[in-house]
Amino acid sequence: MKTPARTAIIAGNWKMNFGPLQAATFAGEILSDLVPLVEASSHIISIICPPAISLAAVQHAMREQYHQRIELGAQNMYFEEKGAFTGELAPSMVSELCTSVILGHSERRAYFGESDELVNKKTLAALRHGLRPIVCIGERPDQYDAGQTREVIASQSLHSFGRLPAEHVKEVVIAYEPIWAIGTGKAATAEGAGEVISYIRQLFGEMYGDEAALAVRILYGGSVTSDNIGEFMAHPDIDGALVGGASIKPDFVEIVRKTIETVGM
Ligand code: 13P
Repeated sequence: MKTPARTAIIAGNWKMNFGPLQAATFAGEILSDLVPLVEASSHIISIICPPAISLAAVQHAMREQYHQRIELGAQNMYFEEKGAFTGELAPSMVSELCTSVILGHSERRAYFGESDELVNKKTLAALRHGLRPIVCIGERPDQYDAGQTREVIASQSLHSFGRLPAEHVKEVVIAYEPIWAIGTGKAATAEGAGEVISYIRQLFGEMYGDEAALAVRILYGGSVTSDNIGEFMAHPDIDGALVGGASIKPDFVEIVRKTIETVGM
């Protein structure tokens, strides 16, 4: 069941698109529409996640067109506090600019070898630094075809967001992103995604108790657009979306608009 405490989240994962100059321009454009929209509904948070090098540029644009429920997120970070880790970002650095951080995206798992264990360390580090981790899980196409979705999800859940400190479990956001739906234009059905998301909520309850399961927000990701967001949001267990391709287009604003139509003012 959706509860009023579970404020909807529409997050835009820009992936490796828009350096600082383009990011500033695009952020400026969408913020002029997003700010009045988000202003009108207290039931939604929008999180923009540009590439790391563009975070400061987008933060600058956000200061000029400010709303407290439009937040900045990073796409990744390392778990160590500082030191000789060339090319990495420490949690304390990310938390200077961002409220949130996407962790364990399937692209990081597939192309950069990230394991559930690494994602777990990053999740714990994010929570220690007051960052909201958006932890991604989801099955591959071959696992989906073989009917292994639940097995894969159970294992990823246990190992990616296990061992969380009790006082922080409600701050975690989970994104269910079936890999076969990412960037393919073939979104899951709301019913199919909802079924897996309800299962993730059940698993979370087994790990952290009923109260935590009611509070945790679980998003769907994979070919979300303004045409299908309404169906996903209508499902009682789906609390929002992690949007890829459509987040670097004006359609992102329409996705937020349609979400507000569902969650109300
Ligand atoms: P698309 O919306 O482009 O399918 O990407 C989803 C995604 O990977 C968001 O993290």
